[in-house]
Amino acid sequence: MTASHFSPRNAPAKARDLHAQASPDFAAKLAETQALLRRAAAEFTPVTQASSLGAEDVVITHLINSLQLDIPVFVLETGALHTETLALLERTQAHSRAPIVVYRPVQASVIQFVREQGQDAMYQSIALRKACCGVRKMEPLSRALQDQKAWITGLRQEQSAARAEVPLLDESEVVTKTLYKFNPLARWTWGDVWHYIATNHVDYNPLHDQFFPSIGCAPCTRAISLGEEFRAGRWWWEDEAAKECGLHVKG
Ligand code: ADX
Ligand code: SF4
Repeated sequence: MTASHFSPRNAPAKARDLHAQASPDFAAKLAETQALLRRAAAEFTPVTQASSLGAEDVVITHLINSLQLDIPVFVLETGALHTETLALLERTQAHSRAPIVVYRPVQASVIQFVREQGQDAMYQSIALRKACCGVRKMEPLSRALQDQKAWITGLRQEQSAARAEVPLLDESEVVTKTLYKFNPLARWTWGDVWHYIATNHVDYNPLHDQFFPSIGCAPCTRAISLGEEFRAGRWWWEDEAAKECGLHVKG
């Protein structure tokens, strides 16, 4: 292969070049998001952002930092994330004004689960996949949310049919759990997310340049092909209805 193969003209397209396209009402959506984040910081403390370091979440952390809001960010480091995600986590920890708090699973529980069920248990059955998510994500999540009044996520209505009704402020779990959930990008399109990333030069996970729109743990995430659904690369061997890990499933 000659050097000419690597000319900028045929370099792989970056996700921000492919997707950045602001909606006509982007300015209004951005103002709504900023107002919501300010309100969360002023009226809902303690409040924290849940970040998977995906495109939506890096936008929210960037907004928290640029608005200088006192909202710490937490990342569930499951022990099964891609090296690209771990590298972005390190860069974010180095550069973020808001503290980045990392929650890891209980090591003994992971060791026991893998010893009993094997490294590839998630592919065997939905029950075993959910058990793995329980150990690696749900238990650390419960620690991250303990004593919080609210949390902030990157859920968007456009992501899947199951998320089509995601509200900007979800109060539906408040009665039992006294926990509010803010989804400040609920109305943003994928084009809006990338427009923000491109115009603000936000650092992002390079897996997005390799056709991974939605990024979770490495064994449970693959790239998608043209025409596939946004979340088709998540738990791709399971039915559509099962494709949530529990983080956003109402009890
Ligand atoms: S998931 O439930 O299928 O894993 P998804 O990857 O779409 O969720 O992410 C939706 C939101 O859940 C993210 O925007 C983020 O707020 C939160 N989230 C998902 N994974 C993590 C993680 N590993 N650590 C912290 N928050 C996460
Ligand atoms: Fe385990 Fe996959 Fe769930 Fe990650 S997404 S916790 S590897 S089953």
